[in-house]
Amino acid sequence: MNQIDIITRKRDGQELSADELQFLISQYVSGNIPDYQISAFLMAVYFNGMTPVETATFTRLMRDSGTVLNHSAVDGFKSDKHSTGGVGDKVSLILAPLVASAGVIVPMISGRGLAHTGGTLDKLEAIPGFRTNLDLDELEPQLNAIGVVMIGQTEDLCPADKKIYALRDATATVNSIPLITASILSKKLAEGIDSLVLDVKAGSGAIFEDKEKAWELAKMLTATADNFGLKTTAILTSMEQPLGRAVGNWLETREAIDTLRGNGPADLLDITLILSAQMLLHSGKVDSISAGMALLEEKIASGEAFDKFLQIVKWHGGDTAMVEKPDAYPTAKCSADIVAQSDGHVAEINCREIGRTAMALGAGRTSVEEDVDYTSGIMLRKKVGDAVRKGEPLATAYSNDADVLSTCQQRIEQAFKISSTQVARPPLIFSRIEAGVEQRWDADARNFV
Ligand code: URA
Repeated sequence: MNQIDIITRKRDGQELSADELQFLISQYVSGNIPDYQISAFLMAVYFNGMTPVETATFTRLMRDSGTVLNHSAVDGFKSDKHSTGGVGDKVSLILAPLVASAGVIVPMISGRGLAHTGGTLDKLEAIPGFRTNLDLDELEPQLNAIGVVMIGQTEDLCPADKKIYALRDATATVNSIPLITASILSKKLAEGIDSLVLDVKAGSGAIFEDKEKAWELAKMLTATADNFGLKTTAILTSMEQPLGRAVGNWLETREAIDTLRGNGPADLLDITLILSAQMLLHSGKVDSISAGMALLEEKIASGEAFDKFLQIVKWHGGDTAMVEKPDAYPTAKCSADIVAQSDGHVAEINCREIGRTAMALGAGRTSVEEDVDYTSGIMLRKKVGDAVRKGEPLATAYSNDADVLSTCQQRIEQAFKISSTQVARPPLIFSRIEAGVEQRWDADARNFV
């Protein structure tokens, strides 16, 4: 077999066999095929796609390129959630302890921030001492003790995806439905879970701006997961404006802590409750999303969800005092309010631009090796639909670099569109896709119908 023939066949739109895909992946991981040939293959997939069978095979081969975890020594139903990525998306920090406090085991593996989106690992590591790089043999004792771990992808898990994802990032081939499907599912299938909830986002801050494309991704993800017998539900949500008010590592962790203590913003709480309730529904602990949401609300009100978060922080070596008294956390050296130039209503917040500006303020990185600044970022003071008076703050920007802060202020101001007429609050949850069936979200019934 040779890689040029395989690349040629994919370039010409043909379906590759399992043997051909296996050859490409194994030879690439072992260093026998150079980056430039895999780049050509990825670009051919970007333009010509993959059939459902190819996508499932590619997923399986990526999963099997490393260790596949098995938590059978841990009693209980194991579930995880994955988001296709967004701005201000700190849901995992709230969802993991919340779901674990309701008795479902959460062996969560998350990523770092890249491009305009943040990453769960950076937000957790904003807590002094918090270790996300646990050894695989540390997982089981922790899962047995507290029912939840929150770690990053290790060297042993899906090494093929690690290498291919870095290459996709550098060759403009991230936005391909079969490649995203294989990348996400290979890692989730290697986690040893019984079920998966996918938050598939559409909008200006999402991987796909276009709703149709996001729907297509959700369908491909659920259909491929079904092939592996993994109970999977995709929930389609909006990423037209940042989630909650905080964008930036510690700012988001702080907002997650507030939410776990019952003081979170409504949109963040809502989406977290729905995704978490879907995990409880998978486990059989509840028989509807609305019943799951009610149970989870009790876990927040009773303090059990916050206590579970403290347990997580303790087990990962983090400073629990900082979580209990988050006002003690250091703040960025400089901050500035961005104020409205006219009276009106917030009609639009360019989500991608807010994400990019938060990164420029210091919250992000341009390559995986770079450090992030935990205290920089943006707090939104107004969201879409809010009324605003001239001179009122739209947002506050934080940075440790005064020059960067002054260049970012105008970008934030321009990301807001103010309308002279009233603007309706946009929907956050659209629908759910499961076993090929789509149901829309009914906010009044608190259920998919
Ligand atoms: N997240 C992943 O893990 N992989 C992708 O390809 C896109 C988002």
